[in-house]
Amino acid sequence: MTTKPLPVPPARSRLEAEPLPRRDFLGLAAGWTAGSALLFSIVGMLRLPKAAVIPAPSSRFRVSLPDSLAPGTAFLPPGRPVAIFREASGVYAISTVCTHLGCIVQAAPDGFRCPCHGSMFARDGSVVRGPAPKPLPWLEVRKTGSGLYVVDAKKTVPPGTTETA
Ligand code: FES
Repeated sequence: MTTKPLPVPPARSRLEAEPLPRRDFLGLAAGWTAGSALLFSIVGMLRLPKAAVIPAPSSRFRVSLPDSLAPGTAFLPPGRPVAIFREASGVYAISTVCTHLGCIVQAAPDGFRCPCHGSMFARDGSVVRGPAPKPLPWLEVRKTGSGLYVVDAKKTVPPGTTETA
């Protein structure tokens, strides 16, 4: 009986990487998968406490009218959908939210124009040209002791209601 010598693997270079056993590879893959899942769940939890919507500013705000505000000229406080007028009869505020579909109207020399569908409003908010179905609402204005005005963009008043200038 003769025995055959076992085949000798070819000699490897020292620069060649050590082959990774399958058991080690599977262990590493499982570790990376678990680590990734943990990371994504932590990122998801960090996002939870944030509010889903940006809080809107209060509908009531104080405004100081410029001394140079001429009668018949709208003062548009930045970031507020309101136009404020100072006339001889008093101070009044009109909403600049179009009554058609809610676009913000722009001040024009003769009143307001809606950039969305072309409605036109007079300075007192009445509809000059549709499709806006209703006039722009007048808003409550109160004068404070310090010469400022408090406008409430959610409280409407009958057209023609003014506050002393
Ligand atoms: Fe102003 Fe349509 S939203 S005319």
